[in-house]
Amino acid sequence: MSLLIGNIGSLVTNDPALGEGPLGLLSDAAVVVDGDTVAWVGPAEKAPAADESVDAAGRALLPGFVDSHSHLVFAGDRTAEFNARMSGRAYEAGGIRTTVAATRAASDAELNANLTRYLAEMLRQGTTTVEVKSGYGLSTADEARSLRIAAGHTEETTYLGAHVVGPEFADDPAGYVELVTGEMLEACAPYARWVDVFCERGAFDGEQARAVLTAGMAKGLRPRVHANQLSPGPGVQLAVELGAASADHCTHLTDRDVAALADGGTVATLLPGAEFSTRAPYPDARRLLDAGARVALSTDCNPGSSFTSSMPFCLAVAVREMGMTPDEAVHAATAGGALALRRTDVGRISPGARADLQLLDAPSHVHLAYRPGVPLTAAVWQGGVRKA
Ligand code: NIG
Ligand code: FE
Repeated sequence: MSLLIGNIGSLVTNDPALGEGPLGLLSDAAVVVDGDTVAWVGPAEKAPAADESVDAAGRALLPGFVDSHSHLVFAGDRTAEFNARMSGRAYEAGGIRTTVAATRAASDAELNANLTRYLAEMLRQGTTTVEVKSGYGLSTADEARSLRIAAGHTEETTYLGAHVVGPEFADDPAGYVELVTGEMLEACAPYARWVDVFCERGAFDGEQARAVLTAGMAKGLRPRVHANQLSPGPGVQLAVELGAASADHCTHLTDRDVAALADGGTVATLLPGAEFSTRAPYPDARRLLDAGARVALSTDCNPGSSFTSSMPFCLAVAVREMGMTPDEAVHAATAGGALALRRTDVGRISPGARADLQLLDAPSHVHLAYRPGVPLTAAVWQGGVRKA
């Protein structure tokens, strides 16, 4: 079956060869989808015929969001912790253990139902690709089942056994790193594409993070790193050195970190939901972009530091608080996320791409930042299938 989406007022292709600027913008455009793939993009009046057609009525069409960082296999919530933080308490990674206890106590069916619900929430807001991490199990069996459940929904699964030291190893962090790089890795690798580590004071230091990442890489997993979130540290340098696809958070960066990101192949993934919900200073996207680094935006959706599933929300905050232009933020939330996952089939609307598309109830992608908090998603297609 083929589908023609015609009368598109403004089309973001993310292919500079197809249109204006880095977003490859076209006005009065049309897109033809064949099965699960984009087959044709061009001026509306030249569009070929198709089996079905949709009238975009002058509205904006853009690639589905690529949310390259989330922690969606969990049970329970942390309302009390959020309340305490909004009454002045500082965010500490230690809250992760509360979610670990709730997650361990939950059945597979409960975890799967939660994950399904949050992915559906994301889809309704235009997100068509989601990376999902483990990290609330912290035992071999609980990490492996988290990833098995995640793998039932997405190919972008990330082994984060090294989120914090598991409760059984509170007095033996070295023993926990041995578990994460040994038996736990063995059990998790079949369900994971990526390996991640929370490189931070109170979690894992540079040496431990290197051990976790290199062990994962030896098993065929590709590295990404929670880096420089709560304080400056070795995470970004390690990520670039090991060729990680992405260094995530990047809130506290030295000039050397910024230069390493600009010169290396590692994407800086910024997660403004975390700073919003922990009342912390935002990362400086302007500094990274001006230095030539490639930037992605993602939700970091998790019950502790960033309980939002909304890419439009993150995008609006990034524009208002982090020095990004609306165009840069839209690029970071689509093509940037794709790059952070090393995907070439998503994050763009050009022939050969997966037909992951979102139609906005707005004339332009700029409205995502201009109209914060307003649900603008009019329609979503995932692999050519209308989902919302
Ligand atoms: O990305 N930084 C570590 N992990 C999560 C927080 C998880 C939690 O607080 O439960 C994050 O912000
Ligand atoms: Fe995270």
